[in-house]
Order: sequence, then structure tokens, then C-alpha cells
Amino acid sequence: MDLSVRIGPLHLRNPLIAASGCFGYGLEYADLVDLASLGGVAVKGLFLKEREGHPPPRIVETPSGMLNAIGLQGIGIRRFISEKMPGLRQRGAVVFVNICGSTLDEYVELARILDGEEGVAALELNISCPNIKEGGITFGCNLGATFDVVSAVRRATRLPIIPKLTPNVTDISAFARAAEDAGADAVSLVNTFLAMAIDVETRRPRLSNVMGGLSGPAIRPIAVRMVYECARKVKIPIIGIGGISTANDVLEFMIAGATAVQVGTANFVDPFIWPKLIDGVRAYMERHRLARLADLIGTIEPGGKGNDGSTAGRA
Ligand SMILES: Cc1cc2nc3c(=O)[nH]c(=O)nc-3n(C[C@H](O)[C@H](O)[C@H](O)COP(=O)(O)O)c2cc1C
Repeated sequence: MDLSVRIGPLHLRNPLIAASGCFGYGLEYADLVDLASLGGVAVKGLFLKEREGHPPPRIVETPSGMLNAIGLQGIGIRRFISEKMPGLRQRGAVVFVNICGSTLDEYVELARILDGEEGVAALELNISCPNIKEGGITFGCNLGATFDVVSAVRRATRLPIIPKLTPNVTDISAFARAAEDAGADAVSLVNTFLAMAIDVETRRPRLSNVMGGLSGPAIRPIAVRMVYECARKVKIPIIGIGGISTANDVLEFMIAGATAVQVGTANFVDPFIWPKLIDGVRAYMERHRLARLADLIGTIEPGGKGNDGSTAGRA
């Protein structure tokens, strides 16, 4: 059985990638998960400099999900390269470096630094973090700025570049198209949904940052819809993200048009989830006599009769 997929020039052994911010810098999980067995590892978002992030509380559990406002705490690119890259290389991880900038120049500088770094498979451009004041989502919510930052990074590196899109826009497929036009090799979607929760006893927001990003199974159907919409608009591969916690969820995203997927919040619930997802995908392939998983991508059938004989037409 062939579970491999292609993301631009990258050949991944399977479509399962650990989502940024939910898997540390990869090495924290190396005793629990064989990093080389994953399609890839997207590391925690990195700026040029170290950052402290927001003060606690910065995580809140919600029905079928969670809110976070970490504020992109991170060790900065230099320490990442010297302290984390050697171990990631040694373990054979396919490393997606998630980069964030407060300015366009910061994204370009990060891309230049990483361009020469052995073992970096791709750059994931985080232009979608809802939890910081400057940069990030301000690029991802503006079509022109999305185009400009992706084009500038394109000129700065030969590495595959994968802008990560925000769902906090009216038409995400227009942003996927802008990224494609600017030379992106793929797009990943979605980052978290801007959200908040209030403690009614104290009447205070539950997060110190007031607002945060919603992730987990609660967002999955919206993310699937967004992948489906983008797949009809762009030719570049899509990495689907949002609430994946079972093999069926992986398959659902692929049928909607995703070439690969990322798993975030579910890894917090069950760090041993990875072999379970792979086994479930294999079982499906056996049941459906599917030799190549890549043949499943975008194979959604038109709406109509469901399994139960009902009409699944749109309202
Ligand atoms: C605690 C936490 C930290 C995150 N940090 C980042 C980050 O640094 N960069 C990024 O692009 N996305 C970050 N994300 C977003 C996830 O990568 C992912 O897009 C989102 O959580 C949806 O997927 P999920 O429902 O599988 O978690 C973070 C999410 C969580 C929950």
C-alpha cells in the first residue's frame, strides 16, 4: 500500500503532519513518536528573536475544542537552528519550519537564514496567528499583503513555501489564489478561529489576552468546507487542518481535496494518536481496494442520495 503524497517538490511518506504549536519543536515528542514515521513535523512558530508570549491563563477548554492565546512564545530562529535542528536531522524528521514576522522584512530575513539550513524541508508562513498584535494575521487578512509577503519570500529562498491561511476571512479561496499567484508551492489551512470565553462569576475573559484561537473537533466541518472551496480555486496542493482526531477525519479532508493534513489539538489529548491514524487509513484502503492513497485526493462525489437513502442536497 502506498500512503505517500507529494507537496510540490516534497515526497512525504504519508499525509500526516504534526501541526505547528501542538508538537513543540518535535524533539519533545521524540520518545513517544518516531518522528521519521510522520509525513512531517511543523515546528512551533518562530520569529527572528525569542519571545515570551502572553501571560497565563492562555488556554481554556471549550466544548469539543480549546481556546489558546499563547502569543507565539518561542526560542527564536538562531537557537532553533543550533539547539533543535541537529536532533531533528538525526531523527530523520521532515521539518516544516513555521515562520512568523512582525514585518514583511522579517519573513524575508527568516527565509534567507533557513534557505541554507540542512534538513529544512519547507517553510510554512504563518500569516494567520490571531493572537499577536503586529504581523501574522494582518498579512493573512489582506489579499494584497498576502500576495506581497509570499512573493517576497519566494524571491528569498529556493525552499518550498507554504503560506498558512486564516479562516477569519469571508472568502478563504481568494487568499489561496493570491498565495498561488505569488508563487507558493502549497497552502495549509486552517489556523484557529478568533474566539473568546467569559467567566460569568467574575465577568472576566477567561484568557489574559481576552481573545484567542479556537481549535479542535468543533472547527472540523468548517475547515473541511474551506478545503473544499480552495480545492476548486487553486491547483497547488492543500494541507488540510482543523479538528482531525480519527482516520476518518483524515480521509474526509483528503476526499474534500487535501493532499496532506495536520493534526494539532488531538495530539494533546492523545500523543500516541499517530500509529492509530495510519492503521485506520490503511484499513480503509484495504476495504476500498485502494492501492495509492493519493488517488483519494479530491474524489468527492456530487451531493445526492446519502447512505441512508436521504437527499443530501444543500439548503
Ligand atoms: C496551543 C496552540 C498553539 C499553536 N501555535 C501555532 C503556531 O505557532 N503557528 C501556527 O501556524 N499555528 C499554531 N497553532 C494552530 C494549529 O497549528 C492548527 O492550525 C489549529 O490548532 C487547528 O488544528 P487542530 O484543530 O488540529 O488543532 C496553534 C494551535 C494551538 C492549539
